[in-house]
Amino acid sequence: MAYTYTAWLLVIITEFLILVSITKAKVPAVIVFGDSSVDAGNNNAVSTLLKSNFLPYGRDFAGGHATGRFCNGRIPPDFISEAFGLKPAIPAYLDSNYNISDFTTGVCFASAGTGYDNATSAVLNVIPMWKELEYYKEYQNKLRAHVGNIKANEILTEALYLISLGTNDFLENYYILPTRQSQFTIKQFEDFLTGLAGNFIRNLYSLGARKISLTGVPPMGCLPLERAMNIMGQNDCVENYNKVALEFNGKLKALVARLNKELHGARLIFTDPYFIFSQIIKKPSLYGKFM
Ligand SMILES: *[C@@H]1O[C@H](CO)[C@@H](O)[C@H](O)[C@H]1NC(C)=O
Ligand SMILES: *[C@@H]1O[C@H](CO)[C@@H](O)[C@H](O)[C@H]1NC(C)=O
Repeated sequence: MAYTYTAWLLVIITEFLILVSITKAKVPAVIVFGDSSVDAGNNNAVSTLLKSNFLPYGRDFAGGHATGRFCNGRIPPDFISEAFGLKPAIPAYLDSNYNISDFTTGVCFASAGTGYDNATSAVLNVIPMWKELEYYKEYQNKLRAHVGNIKANEILTEALYLISLGTNDFLENYYILPTRQSQFTIKQFEDFLTGLAGNFIRNLYSLGARKISLTGVPPMGCLPLERAMNIMGQNDCVENYNKVALEFNGKLKALVARLNKELHGARLIFTDPYFIFSQIIKKPSLYGKFM
């Protein structure tokens, strides 16, 4: 039931180029919300089965250490942080090896397995998005106590906020459990999630965030587990899931355009991982050696 996706390096580079162009001012911190695509290890501190604190996770991370990232090495926010001249790896908020001194230049609130919908995070008892935001509020207070109000406000306003999730809402929730399917058609569910994404961003904005990147979903029908279960389709990608991913990304993109008009002083971008992922899956040899 753990739907995770890694191999994001090219997405990161694309994303980074876009980000640099909109964030000319310096970025003092990178602050992260979302699911396994960006979780730096928060699930280690949560009572869930969905963890990645064992090898081969982390085998290419500094020290070969399985941090709780769902990846062999670093994840996209780490590269983005490094590219802005900050830490090469963003610490997880719930990791007791770190404290507010470490979090001043970046912090991760993400939790693998979570979704926009509360019902998604409930499946594997991971951190719901409203709780990620509660942790962020707690972080703001700690930051103010640590560096003072003026400096804290500067950090919080100028920071880059990364939000990446959505896949689990479809694959762990809608297509598996009966509740949402009985309430919504798939298009209505996409709209429901888009509404929740909008509310999340509005809440984040009202707490002071201004530079925000919202990441869409990858070709989720090509995730290894989906292909493994697609026995009738010769273990090929599940085209229907990919179609939904494209449709949902279109809605998130439109949401970002609307929010840029609605939220005064905010600079939001939509980051679309779909096509670069597709390309990597279809033509892996173009991207180096794949085992
Ligand atoms: C954070 O931890 C370091 C040691 O790891 C310690 O030196 C520092 O005082 C701590 N900072 C705070 C604010 O607790
Ligand atoms: C999700 O749960 C939180 C906490 O119980 C609640 O405040 C929020 O309204 C819920 N969101 C939705 C869309 O039901």
